[in-house]
Amino acid sequence: MVDVELRGLVREFDDGSKIGPIDLHVRDGELLTLLGPSGSGKTTTLRMVAGFIENVGGSLLFDGKDMVNVPPRERNIGMVFQSVALFPNMTVYENISFGPDMAGWTREKTVERVEELADLLGIRRLLLRKISEVSGGEAQRIALARALATNPKLLLLDEPLSALDPQLRERLQSEIRRIQRKLKVTTIYVTHSQDEAFAISDRVAILEDGVVSQVGTPEELYDSPRNEFVARFLGSGNIFSGQITEVNGGKLKILVNDNLFEIPGKGVANSQITFSVKPEDVLVSDSTPLNWTKATLVSITPQVGSFKVTIDFNGIHIIALTYDEDLVKRLRSNGERTIAFAFRSESIIILSG
Ligand SMILES: Nc1ncnc2c1ncn2[C@@H]1O[C@H](COP(=O)(O)OP(=O)(O)O)[C@@H](O)[C@H]1O
Ligand SMILES: [Mg+2]
Repeated sequence: MVDVELRGLVREFDDGSKIGPIDLHVRDGELLTLLGPSGSGKTTTLRMVAGFIENVGGSLLFDGKDMVNVPPRERNIGMVFQSVALFPNMTVYENISFGPDMAGWTREKTVERVEELADLLGIRRLLLRKISEVSGGEAQRIALARALATNPKLLLLDEPLSALDPQLRERLQSEIRRIQRKLKVTTIYVTHSQDEAFAISDRVAILEDGVVSQVGTPEELYDSPRNEFVARFLGSGNIFSGQITEVNGGKLKILVNDNLFEIPGKGVANSQITFSVKPEDVLVSDSTPLNWTKATLVSITPQVGSFKVTIDFNGIHIIALTYDEDLVKRLRSNGERTIAFAFRSESIIILSG
């Protein structure tokens, strides 16, 4: 549909705060999600792309053509906002046909398009209802149909599901994904929910304080967070910060709150370092294998398909995941509080910044 590139896109506000500069490439037909905490600039970025914000610096390229000074209605964009802005006194049909009517489509072409979208979204039986007579989930489907009505090249969705209950949200996530794939419409999706971002996206851009911290597929971000912010925000691991006390042939000794960890890696003695170990890369045992470290068991929580084991190592809490039901049974039955742990050393991620 369209290839979108943000190059140093930036908006400085009168109070001195700013969003950007943002560099981001959204590929043709891709669903890319802007993910970040509240206030990180997701909505502002989306509004800059849509053209609803004036005095924007940098460039915004649609298929290589700069759009920064092109008015919103000439950008060929469909948009769904966080709070649904449907026309309450109009019917579902009238809401969806609004864009085509404004664009001067023939009645025949409009009817055909509305019916096609209504079928795609499963809302055909609602077409003659008033907006006040539909549910929250239905309203979001209608908003999506309305955004897609004029065949936009680019779809912008700003937290479209955040007001819905979790079950409905999940169902609509996969609906949006299915429709986006079918129509191949380039899509920028905004959410503050990692689960939602990972469920729905080809790639995810993590925003921190108005700039992109890292872009990648969900797997890339989870496996290789680039910095502490991304690692903490994704909650993908146990994060330790400490001082390198010794550098020895590709191994580092790191002092974290009076505890010494040895990990593979490069570094400079006496400097600070932060590293992350994912719960599935923390090994636990009720015997004490050679070179493993003793700690205290805090709790075991069953999860879908695994157990979350929390251990205390001299005041540092470490989360491990285990699939070993026998181990869990033994730990539970003998009331043992001592446990040994080790890190799968090849999986330790050293975080910069
Ligand atoms: N018109 C404005 N004037 C001043 N600051 C603004 C304006 N619009 C947005 N901001 C700033 O941009 C920040 C990001 O806002 P927003 O894009 O809504 O974040 P998000 O959607 O990620 O929650 C806010 O913290 C706010 O300070
Ligand atoms: Mg927002």
